[in-house]
Amino acid sequence: MKILGHRGAAGTAPENTLISFDKGLELGVDGFEFDVQLSRDREVVVIHDERVDRTSDGTGWVKDYSLKELKSLNFGVGFKTYAPIPTLEELLEMLQDKSLIINVEIKTGLIEYPGIVAQVAGLLEKYNVTKQSIISSFEHRTIVEVIKDFPDLKTGLLYECGLISPWLYAQDMGASHLHPHYAFISPELVRECNLRGIGVNTWTVNEEWEIERAIVSGTDIAITNYPERFSHLRSE
Ligand code: G3P
Ligand code: MG
Repeated sequence: MKILGHRGAAGTAPENTLISFDKGLELGVDGFEFDVQLSRDREVVVIHDERVDRTSDGTGWVKDYSLKELKSLNFGVGFKTYAPIPTLEELLEMLQDKSLIINVEIKTGLIEYPGIVAQVAGLLEKYNVTKQSIISSFEHRTIVEVIKDFPDLKTGLLYECGLISPWLYAQDMGASHLHPHYAFISPELVRECNLRGIGVNTWTVNEEWEIERAIVSGTDIAITNYPERFSHLRSE
């Protein structure tokens, strides 16, 4: 199984900041999952929420801030440190030569961010990491756009509910992966997906019994806030 750091190594460092990705590298990961949104001046920035309030000392919507304004905020406050928001470009610069799995979650659920797919795909291409990247989203219309416009990219359909035959849904759409919450994984799911050449990656697996579920089900990837807890499970 491959182990990806969630938002870097969000259990022990300020999520989605370069400190967090550094920490993940130090702890040993096969790759990272992180989230992206667009600033007012259309920079792709690495941040989970649509608003800056929970993770920084600022307040308001990411979409209303210019990159310069976002850079003036501190995203390390929860860990009593200083950590600026990274752009996708800065993060890819850091990760580009490391042969890591790069799972970019595009947060188009609440805000549409027209054009974000092309921008993300363009940056992955620029840093020569397209082949090792997976684009995921809870907004499945975003995944359809990726499949249509950037067929070289792998795609992950995120969900956290009990779907009926999700392998048929993914197959019909042409998605390469399902990305279920761990509550919705099972050996049957993985078997049915694998029969169709569809991969299964699960999240956010932090406790022993959660990883046990992933092992028993046979998922390809487990995404965790604590890569150090599961590094012994990493395999080629
Ligand atoms: O991509 C896996 C996971 O990150 C999805 O949920 O809310 O943590 O982005 P969330
Ligand atoms: Mg995410």
